[in-house]
Amino acid sequence: MIARADIPAPAGMLAELTHRCPLGCPYCSNPAELEKPASELDTATWKRVFSEAAAAGVLHVHLSGGEPCVRADIAELTAHCAQVGLYTNLITSGVGLTRKLFDALVDARLDHLQLSIQDAEASSADRIAGYDGAFARKSEVARWTVEAGLPLTINAVMHRANIARAARMVEMAVELGARRIEVAHTQYYGWGLVNRAALMPSREETEKAVAAVEDLRKTHEGRIVIDHVVPDYHARFPKACMSGWGRRTFNVTPSGKVLPCHAAETIPGLEFWNVRDRSVAAAWYDSPAFNAYRGDAWMKEPCRSCERKAIDFGGCRCQALALTGDACNADPICEKSPRHATVGAIASNESASGAIDYRYRRLNAKA
Ligand code: FES
Repeated sequence: MIARADIPAPAGMLAELTHRCPLGCPYCSNPAELEKPASELDTATWKRVFSEAAAAGVLHVHLSGGEPCVRADIAELTAHCAQVGLYTNLITSGVGLTRKLFDALVDARLDHLQLSIQDAEASSADRIAGYDGAFARKSEVARWTVEAGLPLTINAVMHRANIARAARMVEMAVELGARRIEVAHTQYYGWGLVNRAALMPSREETEKAVAAVEDLRKTHEGRIVIDHVVPDYHARFPKACMSGWGRRTFNVTPSGKVLPCHAAETIPGLEFWNVRDRSVAAAWYDSPAFNAYRGDAWMKEPCRSCERKAIDFGGCRCQALALTGDACNADPICEKSPRHATVGAIASNESASGAIDYRYRRLNAKA
Protein backbone atom coordinates (compact mmCIF):
# COMPACT_ATOMS: atom_id res chain seq x y z
CA MET A 1 0.00 0.00 0.00
CA ILE A 2 1.39 3.41 -1.00
CA ALA A 3 1.50 6.09 1.71
CA ARG A 4 -0.95 8.97 1.25
CA ALA A 5 1.95 11.44 1.09
CA ASP A 6 3.30 9.63 -1.99
CA ILE A 7 0.01 9.78 -3.90
CA PRO A 8 -0.31 12.84 -6.15
CA ALA A 9 -3.45 14.96 -5.86
CA PRO A 10 -5.97 14.34 -8.64
CA ALA A 11 -5.85 16.87 -11.48
CA GLY A 12 -8.94 15.94 -13.47
CA MET A 13 -12.39 14.48 -13.01
CA LEU A 14 -14.81 12.99 -15.49
CA ALA A 15 -18.35 13.48 -14.22
CA GLU A 16 -20.66 10.99 -15.91
CA LEU A 17 -23.77 12.97 -15.07
CA THR A 18 -26.08 10.46 -16.73
CA HIS A 19 -25.94 7.43 -18.98
CA ARG A 20 -29.02 8.68 -20.89
CA CYS A 21 -28.16 9.58 -24.50
CA PRO A 22 -30.16 10.08 -27.70
CA LEU A 23 -27.37 8.50 -29.76
CA GLY A 24 -26.53 4.82 -29.97
CA CYS A 25 -22.84 4.88 -31.02
CA PRO A 26 -21.56 1.29 -31.32
CA TYR A 27 -18.17 2.23 -29.80
CA CYS A 28 -19.63 3.84 -26.66
CA SER A 29 -17.07 3.60 -23.85
CA ASN A 30 -19.70 3.44 -21.13
CA PRO A 31 -20.22 0.02 -19.53
CA ALA A 32 -22.26 -2.70 -21.17
CA GLU A 33 -24.70 -2.35 -18.25
CA LEU A 34 -25.84 1.30 -18.06
CA GLU A 35 -26.97 2.96 -14.83
CA LYS A 36 -30.68 3.82 -14.79
CA PRO A 37 -31.96 7.44 -14.48
CA ALA A 38 -33.58 6.66 -11.11
CA SER A 39 -30.13 5.97 -9.62
CA GLU A 40 -28.59 9.31 -10.72
CA LEU A 41 -27.15 11.68 -8.10
CA ASP A 42 -29.30 14.73 -7.46
CA THR A 43 -28.21 18.34 -8.00
CA ALA A 44 -27.18 18.99 -4.40
CA THR A 45 -24.98 15.88 -4.29
CA TRP A 46 -23.24 16.71 -7.57
CA LYS A 47 -22.56 20.23 -6.27
CA ARG A 48 -21.01 18.79 -3.12
CA VAL A 49 -18.91 16.42 -5.24
CA PHE A 50 -17.60 19.30 -7.37
CA SER A 51 -16.77 21.34 -4.26
CA GLU A 52 -14.94 18.37 -2.75
CA ALA A 53 -13.10 17.72 -6.01
CA ALA A 54 -11.86 21.32 -6.16
CA ALA A 55 -10.77 21.14 -2.51
CA ALA A 56 -8.88 17.91 -3.27
CA GLY A 57 -6.88 19.65 -6.00
CA VAL A 58 -8.87 18.92 -9.16
CA LEU A 59 -8.35 21.66 -11.75
CA HIS A 60 -10.62 20.64 -14.61
CA VAL A 61 -13.84 18.72 -14.82
CA HIS A 62 -15.31 17.03 -17.88
CA LEU A 63 -19.11 17.21 -17.78
CA SER A 64 -19.99 14.08 -19.65
CA GLY A 65 -22.45 11.23 -19.95
CA GLY A 66 -24.18 9.76 -21.88
CA GLU A 67 -25.40 13.14 -23.01
CA PRO A 68 -24.96 15.63 -20.14
CA CYS A 69 -27.44 18.08 -21.67
CA VAL A 70 -30.37 15.77 -20.90
CA ARG A 71 -29.89 16.76 -17.24
CA ALA A 72 -32.25 19.64 -16.47
CA ASP A 73 -29.65 21.04 -14.02
CA ILE A 74 -26.67 21.09 -16.41
CA ALA A 75 -26.38 24.91 -16.44
CA GLU A 76 -26.76 25.06 -12.65
CA LEU A 77 -24.01 22.45 -12.21
CA THR A 78 -21.75 24.29 -14.66
CA ALA A 79 -22.23 27.54 -12.74
CA HIS A 80 -21.37 25.78 -9.51
CA CYS A 81 -18.15 24.40 -10.99
CA ALA A 82 -17.15 27.90 -12.08
CA GLN A 83 -17.94 29.20 -8.61
CA VAL A 84 -15.60 26.69 -6.94
CA GLY A 85 -12.83 27.39 -9.47
CA LEU A 86 -13.05 24.34 -11.75
CA TYR A 87 -12.34 24.65 -15.49
CA THR A 88 -15.33 23.05 -17.23
CA ASN A 89 -15.36 21.06 -20.44
CA LEU A 90 -18.79 19.99 -21.71
CA ILE A 91 -18.51 16.72 -23.67
CA THR A 92 -21.63 16.61 -25.80
CA SER A 93 -23.12 14.96 -28.85
CA GLY A 94 -24.77 18.32 -29.64
CA VAL A 95 -28.10 16.52 -30.03
CA GLY A 96 -30.61 17.91 -27.55
CA LEU A 97 -28.59 21.08 -26.99
CA THR A 98 -31.00 23.93 -27.80
CA ARG A 99 -29.95 27.52 -28.43
CA LYS A 100 -31.59 28.51 -25.13
CA LEU A 101 -29.65 25.92 -23.18
CA PHE A 102 -26.43 26.82 -24.99
CA ASP A 103 -26.86 30.48 -23.98
CA ALA A 104 -27.56 29.40 -20.40
CA LEU A 105 -24.31 27.40 -20.40
CA VAL A 106 -22.37 30.41 -21.67
CA ASP A 107 -23.98 32.52 -18.91
CA ALA A 108 -22.96 29.81 -16.44
CA ARG A 109 -19.33 30.44 -17.50
CA LEU A 110 -18.70 27.19 -19.37
CA ASP A 111 -15.02 27.20 -20.37
CA HIS A 112 -14.82 24.73 -23.25
CA LEU A 113 -17.01 22.54 -25.44
CA GLN A 114 -16.05 19.17 -26.89
CA LEU A 115 -18.26 17.92 -29.68
CA SER A 116 -18.25 14.40 -31.08
CA ILE A 117 -18.51 13.80 -34.81
CA GLN A 118 -19.10 10.36 -36.29
CA ASP A 119 -17.98 10.91 -39.90
CA ALA A 120 -17.38 13.61 -42.51
CA GLU A 121 -20.34 12.37 -44.59
CA ALA A 122 -23.80 13.08 -43.22
CA SER A 123 -25.50 9.80 -44.14
CA SER A 124 -22.68 7.67 -42.74
CA ALA A 125 -22.40 9.85 -39.60
CA ASP A 126 -26.12 9.51 -38.88
CA ARG A 127 -26.01 5.76 -39.46
CA ILE A 128 -23.09 5.32 -37.05
CA ALA A 129 -24.82 7.45 -34.41
CA GLY A 130 -28.12 5.66 -35.04
CA TYR A 131 -29.83 9.08 -35.21
CA ASP A 132 -31.19 10.85 -38.31
CA GLY A 133 -30.18 14.50 -38.47
CA ALA A 134 -27.36 14.27 -35.90
CA PHE A 135 -24.73 15.50 -38.40
CA ALA A 136 -26.61 18.71 -39.23
CA ARG A 137 -27.30 19.39 -35.56
CA LYS A 138 -23.61 19.09 -34.67
CA SER A 139 -22.53 21.56 -37.34
CA GLU A 140 -24.95 24.09 -35.87
CA VAL A 141 -23.66 23.59 -32.32
CA ALA A 142 -20.09 24.00 -33.58
CA ARG A 143 -21.08 27.32 -35.17
CA TRP A 144 -22.69 28.62 -31.96
CA THR A 145 -19.61 27.62 -29.98
CA VAL A 146 -17.15 29.41 -32.24
CA GLU A 147 -19.40 32.49 -32.51
CA ALA A 148 -19.60 32.64 -28.70
CA GLY A 149 -15.79 32.62 -28.51
CA LEU A 150 -15.67 29.33 -26.63
CA PRO A 151 -12.79 27.00 -27.47
CA LEU A 152 -14.09 24.02 -29.45
CA THR A 153 -12.58 20.54 -29.58
CA ILE A 154 -13.86 17.98 -32.05
CA ASN A 155 -13.70 14.37 -31.02
CA ALA A 156 -13.68 11.82 -33.85
CA VAL A 157 -13.56 8.10 -33.12
CA MET A 158 -12.08 5.99 -35.92
CA HIS A 159 -13.26 2.54 -36.93
CA ARG A 160 -13.96 0.50 -40.04
CA ALA A 161 -16.90 2.57 -41.31
CA ASN A 162 -15.14 5.95 -41.27
CA ILE A 163 -11.39 5.39 -41.15
CA ALA A 164 -10.98 6.07 -44.88
CA ARG A 165 -12.14 9.62 -44.16
CA ALA A 166 -9.86 10.31 -41.15
CA ALA A 167 -8.10 13.13 -42.99
CA ARG A 168 -11.40 14.57 -44.17
CA MET A 169 -12.61 14.71 -40.57
CA VAL A 170 -9.54 16.72 -39.59
CA GLU A 171 -10.26 19.13 -42.48
CA MET A 172 -13.86 19.35 -41.31
CA ALA A 173 -12.72 20.29 -37.79
CA VAL A 174 -10.58 23.09 -39.29
CA GLU A 175 -13.56 24.32 -41.33
CA LEU A 176 -15.79 24.27 -38.25
CA GLY A 177 -13.31 26.53 -36.45
CA ALA A 178 -12.18 23.99 -33.84
CA ARG A 179 -8.96 24.75 -31.98
CA ARG A 180 -8.27 21.07 -31.36
CA ILE A 181 -9.28 17.69 -32.71
CA GLU A 182 -8.90 14.41 -30.93
CA VAL A 183 -8.56 11.61 -33.47
CA ALA A 184 -9.19 8.59 -31.29
CA HIS A 185 -8.97 5.08 -32.68
CA THR A 186 -11.66 2.96 -31.05
CA GLN A 187 -10.82 1.58 -27.62
CA TYR A 188 -12.46 -1.78 -27.14
CA TYR A 189 -14.06 -1.52 -23.71
CA GLY A 190 -17.68 -1.48 -22.61
CA TRP A 191 -20.08 -1.38 -25.54
CA GLY A 192 -17.15 -1.01 -27.95
CA LEU A 193 -15.96 -4.49 -27.01
CA VAL A 194 -19.43 -5.88 -27.74
CA ASN A 195 -19.24 -4.36 -31.25
CA ARG A 196 -15.53 -5.06 -31.85
CA ALA A 197 -16.07 -7.36 -34.84
CA ALA A 198 -18.07 -4.66 -36.66
CA LEU A 199 -15.64 -1.86 -35.78
CA MET A 200 -12.13 -3.26 -36.27
CA PRO A 201 -10.33 -1.76 -39.30
CA SER A 202 -7.55 -3.60 -41.11
CA ARG A 203 -3.88 -2.90 -40.44
CA GLU A 204 -3.56 -1.38 -43.91
CA GLU A 205 -6.52 1.00 -43.40
CA THR A 206 -5.18 1.96 -39.99
CA GLU A 207 -1.66 2.69 -41.19
CA LYS A 208 -2.99 4.80 -44.07
CA ALA A 209 -5.18 6.84 -41.72
CA VAL A 210 -2.39 7.36 -39.18
CA ALA A 211 -0.03 8.60 -41.93
CA ALA A 212 -2.67 10.94 -43.37
CA VAL A 213 -3.43 12.48 -39.97
CA GLU A 214 0.28 12.88 -39.19
CA ASP A 215 0.76 14.70 -42.53
CA LEU A 216 -2.07 17.07 -41.65
CA ARG A 217 -0.39 17.84 -38.35
CA LYS A 218 2.38 19.54 -40.36
CA THR A 219 0.01 21.16 -42.88
CA HIS A 220 -2.16 22.71 -40.16
CA GLU A 221 0.52 23.50 -37.59
CA GLY A 222 -0.52 26.64 -35.72
CA ARG A 223 -4.14 26.38 -36.93
CA ILE A 224 -5.37 23.37 -35.03
CA VAL A 225 -3.94 21.02 -32.43
CA ILE A 226 -4.25 17.38 -33.48
CA ASP A 227 -4.22 14.85 -30.67
CA HIS A 228 -3.92 11.32 -31.91
CA VAL A 229 -4.96 8.41 -29.69
CA VAL A 230 -3.11 5.37 -31.03
CA PRO A 231 -4.86 2.38 -32.61
CA ASP A 232 -4.21 -0.12 -29.83
CA TYR A 233 -4.56 -3.46 -31.58
CA HIS A 234 -2.05 -2.53 -34.28
CA ALA A 235 0.52 -1.01 -31.91
CA ARG A 236 3.80 -2.38 -30.50
CA PHE A 237 3.51 -0.77 -27.07
CA PRO A 238 0.46 -0.05 -24.95
CA LYS A 239 -0.83 3.38 -24.05
CA ALA A 240 -0.41 4.76 -20.51
CA CYS A 241 -4.10 4.28 -19.85
CA MET A 242 -5.54 7.12 -17.70
CA SER A 243 -1.91 8.36 -17.39
CA GLY A 244 -1.52 5.53 -14.89
CA TRP A 245 -4.11 4.04 -12.52
CA GLY A 246 -5.01 6.49 -9.75
CA ARG A 247 -2.29 8.97 -10.74
CA ARG A 248 -4.08 11.94 -12.31
CA THR A 249 -7.80 11.51 -12.91
CA PHE A 250 -10.91 9.70 -11.80
CA ASN A 251 -14.49 9.16 -12.96
CA VAL A 252 -17.70 9.49 -11.01
CA THR A 253 -20.58 7.43 -12.40
CA PRO A 254 -24.19 8.71 -12.57
CA SER A 255 -24.99 6.89 -9.31
CA GLY A 256 -21.88 8.21 -7.54
CA LYS A 257 -19.32 5.41 -7.74
CA VAL A 258 -15.75 6.76 -7.87
CA LEU A 259 -13.78 4.81 -10.47
CA PRO A 260 -10.14 4.93 -11.61
CA CYS A 261 -11.32 4.54 -15.25
CA HIS A 262 -14.41 3.90 -17.40
CA ALA A 263 -14.13 0.14 -17.42
CA ALA A 264 -12.83 -0.50 -13.89
CA GLU A 265 -16.03 -2.27 -12.87
CA THR A 266 -15.21 -5.10 -15.28
CA ILE A 267 -12.34 -6.10 -12.97
CA PRO A 268 -13.70 -8.55 -10.41
CA GLY A 269 -13.01 -8.13 -6.71
CA LEU A 270 -12.42 -4.36 -6.65
CA GLU A 271 -14.24 -2.32 -4.02
CA PHE A 272 -15.47 1.07 -5.28
CA TRP A 273 -16.52 3.77 -2.86
CA ASN A 274 -19.51 5.99 -3.48
CA VAL A 275 -19.71 9.77 -3.01
CA ARG A 276 -23.02 9.26 -1.20
CA ASP A 277 -21.06 7.71 1.70
CA ARG A 278 -17.49 9.05 1.40
CA SER A 279 -15.71 12.19 0.33
CA VAL A 280 -13.96 12.49 -3.03
CA ALA A 281 -10.58 12.75 -1.25
CA ALA A 282 -11.23 9.60 0.78
CA ALA A 283 -12.13 7.65 -2.37
CA TRP A 284 -9.03 8.93 -4.19
CA TYR A 285 -6.48 8.27 -1.46
CA ASP A 286 -7.89 5.38 0.54
CA SER A 287 -10.34 3.26 -1.47
CA PRO A 288 -9.18 -0.29 -2.22
CA ALA A 289 -9.96 0.11 -5.94
CA PHE A 290 -7.61 3.08 -6.38
CA ASN A 291 -4.80 1.43 -4.44
CA ALA A 292 -5.09 -1.89 -6.26
CA TYR A 293 -2.85 -0.88 -9.20
CA ARG A 294 -0.90 2.13 -7.90
CA GLY A 295 2.88 1.87 -7.96
CA ASP A 296 4.44 -1.32 -9.34
CA ALA A 297 4.13 -3.88 -6.52
CA TRP A 298 1.18 -5.51 -8.32
CA MET A 299 3.10 -5.97 -11.58
CA LYS A 300 4.17 -9.32 -12.96
CA GLU A 301 6.91 -9.91 -15.50
CA PRO A 302 7.61 -8.65 -18.11
CA CYS A 303 6.31 -5.34 -16.65
CA ARG A 304 8.07 -5.51 -13.29
CA SER A 305 11.59 -5.33 -14.74
CA CYS A 306 10.67 -3.35 -17.87
CA GLU A 307 12.43 -0.06 -18.58
CA ARG A 308 9.11 1.36 -19.87
CA LYS A 309 7.11 0.71 -16.69
CA ALA A 310 7.27 4.36 -15.63
CA ILE A 311 6.16 5.39 -19.15
CA ASP A 312 3.17 3.17 -19.81
CA PHE A 313 2.50 1.69 -16.33
CA GLY A 314 1.93 -1.74 -17.90
CA GLY A 315 -0.76 -0.38 -20.24
CA CYS A 316 -4.43 -0.80 -19.53
CA ARG A 317 -5.61 -3.01 -16.62
CA CYS A 318 -9.06 -3.47 -18.12
CA GLN A 319 -7.66 -4.53 -21.49
CA ALA A 320 -5.23 -6.93 -19.77
CA LEU A 321 -8.20 -8.51 -18.03
CA ALA A 322 -10.40 -8.63 -21.15
CA LEU A 323 -7.69 -10.19 -23.33
CA THR A 324 -5.71 -12.34 -20.89
CA GLY A 325 -8.12 -13.01 -18.00
CA ASP A 326 -5.86 -11.31 -15.40
CA ALA A 327 -5.71 -7.55 -14.80
CA CYS A 328 -2.17 -7.91 -13.33
CA ASN A 329 -0.76 -9.22 -16.62
CA ALA A 330 0.98 -6.91 -19.06
CA ASP A 331 -1.49 -5.33 -21.46
CA PRO A 332 -1.05 -7.74 -24.41
CA ILE A 333 -0.86 -4.81 -26.83
CA CYS A 334 2.78 -4.77 -25.66
CA GLU A 335 5.09 -6.76 -27.91
CA LYS A 336 6.88 -8.03 -24.80
CA SER A 337 3.71 -9.76 -23.60
CA PRO A 338 3.68 -13.52 -24.27
CA ARG A 339 0.09 -13.01 -25.46
CA HIS A 340 0.86 -10.25 -27.97
CA ALA A 341 0.30 -12.54 -30.98
CA THR A 342 -3.31 -13.09 -29.86
CA VAL A 343 -4.03 -9.40 -30.28
CA GLY A 344 -2.76 -9.41 -33.87
CA ALA A 345 -4.84 -12.50 -34.61
CA ILE A 346 -8.02 -10.89 -33.19
CA ALA A 347 -7.39 -7.74 -35.24
CA SER A 348 -6.87 -9.58 -38.52
CA ASN A 349 -9.74 -12.05 -38.02
CA GLU A 350 -12.24 -9.39 -37.07
CA SER A 351 -11.20 -6.85 -39.70
CA ALA A 352 -11.33 -9.56 -42.37
CA SER A 353 -15.07 -10.11 -41.86
CA GLY A 354 -15.78 -6.70 -43.41
CA ALA A 355 -19.34 -6.75 -42.05
CA ILE A 356 -20.68 -3.59 -40.41
CA ASP A 357 -23.61 -4.88 -38.42
CA TYR A 358 -23.86 -2.85 -35.22
CA ARG A 359 -25.61 -3.65 -31.99
CA TYR A 360 -27.23 -0.36 -30.94
CA ARG A 361 -28.49 0.53 -27.49
CA ARG A 362 -30.18 3.60 -26.15
CA LEU A 363 -31.09 4.65 -22.62
CA ASN A 364 -33.78 7.33 -22.59
CA ALA A 365 -35.46 9.27 -19.84
CA LYS A 366 -38.09 6.60 -19.29
CA ALA A 367 -35.69 3.66 -19.00
FE1 FES B 1 -9.39 0.68 -17.19
FE2 FES B 1 -7.60 1.27 -19.10
S1 FES B 1 -9.76 1.35 -19.24
S2 FES B 1 -7.24 0.87 -16.99
